[in-house]
Amino acid sequence: MRFDQQVAIVTGAQTGIGRAIAERLASEGAAVVLADVVDAEPVAEQIRTTGARALAVRTDVSDEASVANMVEQTVQAFGRVDILVNNAAIAATIELRPFEQISVAEWRRMQDVNAMGPFLCIRAVALHMRAQQQGRIVNITSGTAFKGAPFMLEYVASKGALMTMTRSLARELGKDFITVNAVSPGYTLSEGNLANKEFLATYREAAIQTRAVPRDGWPVDIVGAVAFLASSDASFISGQILAVDGGSVYH
Ligand SMILES: NC(=O)c1ccc[n+]([C@@H]2O[C@H](COP(=O)([O-])OP(=O)(O)OC[C@H]3O[C@@H](n4cnc5c(N)ncnc54)[C@H](O)[C@@H]3O)[C@@H](O)[C@H]2O)c1
Repeated sequence: MRFDQQVAIVTGAQTGIGRAIAERLASEGAAVVLADVVDAEPVAEQIRTTGARALAVRTDVSDEASVANMVEQTVQAFGRVDILVNNAAIAATIELRPFEQISVAEWRRMQDVNAMGPFLCIRAVALHMRAQQQGRIVNITSGTAFKGAPFMLEYVASKGALMTMTRSLARELGKDFITVNAVSPGYTLSEGNLANKEFLATYREAAIQTRAVPRDGWPVDIVGAVAFLASSDASFISGQILAVDGGSVYH
């Protein structure tokens, strides 16, 4: 029970990798807040059946007021914030297209959710973590930002931004004993990706071919790295980006 008495916010926890992370942190004792733009109450209910504490808060991470409300509800319900996992993103729903066909509105929306969203969430929890002189922030980036990937330039750019934010914020927050790290999944068979047939056809076999461990990746493969970086074992690790992709990328 590594996270006993601790409180974790996981954004985008209604499905996929975010849900798996929330379930793991709860199973190790954390009270979890599931912050998602869609209703995550069924997931919270399921977690509560295990005896853990869980709260779903409808949140748009790209909306400053919505994020502030989510963090306020977290503190009201559970009294503190120890862990923030910035997982929410426009991800499995991306439509692949050549970069010339990406509209300015699509580009802006992607950066608003995938890069500004984590910024707003970190800014909102930093106050509480600084007061506690303790905190763990884990950003979910993407192997596409290491390797490049065609037909999703707005997404890759947003994840590249999140990687560089990880390093810079580690340097700003470290003096208050707040660590900032990132986990960079390879192509992972979340429910969303399984439903996106174009993604499956383009990436599933191609991803396996690049891996030292040549098999599919699943949401459950990602959670151990996140839990480690959120734990006290990782108190002297900050600004790092850990690829969890079956050994596809070395950096
Ligand atoms: N699945 C992969 O292959 C893969 C690979 C690399 C990185 N990632 C990253 O892992 C994370 C999860 O991936 P996934 O496949 O589970 O994604 P997904 O698309 O299945 O789920 C994303 C979740 O984020 C939520 N969300 C979207 N916009 C939001 C907003 N504005 N505010 C709050 N919540 C919002 C969605 O409702 C959903 O619950 C993402 O950050 C993604 O970029 C995934």
